[in-house]
Amino acid sequence: MLTSFAVEQQIERFINELRISLADSTFVKLTLSNYKGSEEHLQKIFVRQIETKKGPSLMFQFRRSTNDKVQNFELSEAPSRVKEMLSAGFRSGHLFTTKQDFQLTIGNRSMKLDVGKPTFRTAETKPHDREKKYRIDPNTFYLKALGITTDTGEIRSDQRDKWKQINKFVEILDSLYENSDLKNKPTLNIVDMGSGKGYLTFAAYDYFGTRTSPPAVSVTGIETRGDLVDLSNQIARAGGFDGLKFVQGSIADFKPGEVDILIALHACDTATDDALYKGITSHASIIVAAPCCHKEVKKQMRSPEILSGILKHPVMLERTAETLTDGIRSMLLEANGYKTKLFEFISTEHTPKNNMIVATRSAAKGADQIETRIDEIRNTFGIEHQHLADLLKQRED
Ligand SMILES: C[S@@+](CC[C@H](N)C(=O)[O-])C[C@H]1O[C@@H](n2cnc3c(N)ncnc32)[C@H](O)[C@@H]1O
Repeated sequence: MLTSFAVEQQIERFINELRISLADSTFVKLTLSNYKGSEEHLQKIFVRQIETKKGPSLMFQFRRSTNDKVQNFELSEAPSRVKEMLSAGFRSGHLFTTKQDFQLTIGNRSMKLDVGKPTFRTAETKPHDREKKYRIDPNTFYLKALGITTDTGEIRSDQRDKWKQINKFVEILDSLYENSDLKNKPTLNIVDMGSGKGYLTFAAYDYFGTRTSPPAVSVTGIETRGDLVDLSNQIARAGGFDGLKFVQGSIADFKPGEVDILIALHACDTATDDALYKGITSHASIIVAAPCCHKEVKKQMRSPEILSGILKHPVMLERTAETLTDGIRSMLLEANGYKTKLFEFISTEHTPKNNMIVATRSAAKGADQIETRIDEIRNTFGIEHQHLADLLKQRED
């Protein structure tokens, strides 16, 4: 059995190597694992260096079986925190530096600190990722915390679709913003409805923050799931993203005030309608929505006689429900003073459906005619309820 003095000594050596790596900027990352302590759900801790407005610090991501938690520590404080955590039940510590790797193993009878060749030669993004002209930096810390990129800024192989989607989203946002009257506005209020894990919310914040002369942005993610809200807020705080926050609640209940840009990607079924309604009623200049499922219309749809031979096939019924739902949404936006474009976006693991509706506010033209057309379509397919149409109707009554 090892004495506690011997254990302390080995931990101290490990911590000393951590201090040195932080002092000479050779630190890449640190992982604590094989947890045998008393905290029920704790499994691992991943430690990465990040840049905040206050300077460099270490972000600790606590991996629990139930959820993740993030906390930031200054470089001077972090080594003693790692020491506390090792003493509190982590049996394994792996420190990666660009000079050497250090593997600390604490057993009941043995304790060793293995020193090996470095896995990483640089703490920065690998050149092949830098060569590509991405709009967002794959090395940015929130992408690492959200698990899109590795500690050295490489796109994780199972996250490539998400990465492409984030970049495509930023490309669309950029084009909409550049061509809008918001360009001259010094402050922007942006709301992301159904923000989920916050990938796109962070990306929107990052996009505006890294512009040459950034507007002061307030970005709010609305999400029903409290665990996702907590984690996103922790990551936002860890990054010093003062203008970014996540709020737990439903889209329908959220009171956004005056909104400049409203985002709603893959919010489920009629949650997209709730979001579009909020966009219209808060006079958003730009609305970006990628609807998810189209259950509401599909379950009411009646095939007109002439299409019965086509719509008897479930796949055709499904596609027609999607076309009708998103087409009606786009026409309702037009009737309420928006110009719209409906095009194909990138599908994700959430949904193979990939329509995107973008709407920019302009002068309302021909609202009555558009509404008459919508009524004709609804009568043809027996669509009694369409949630956005119902919400807009209630507002008029
Ligand atoms: C498929 S995820 C998409 C997340 C994110 N927008 C994206 O595209 O990566 C949809 C998220 O919307 C949330 N959501 C669905 N309906 C909602 C509602 N009515 N109010 C708030 N959040 C909602 C879900 O909890 C889920 O996290």
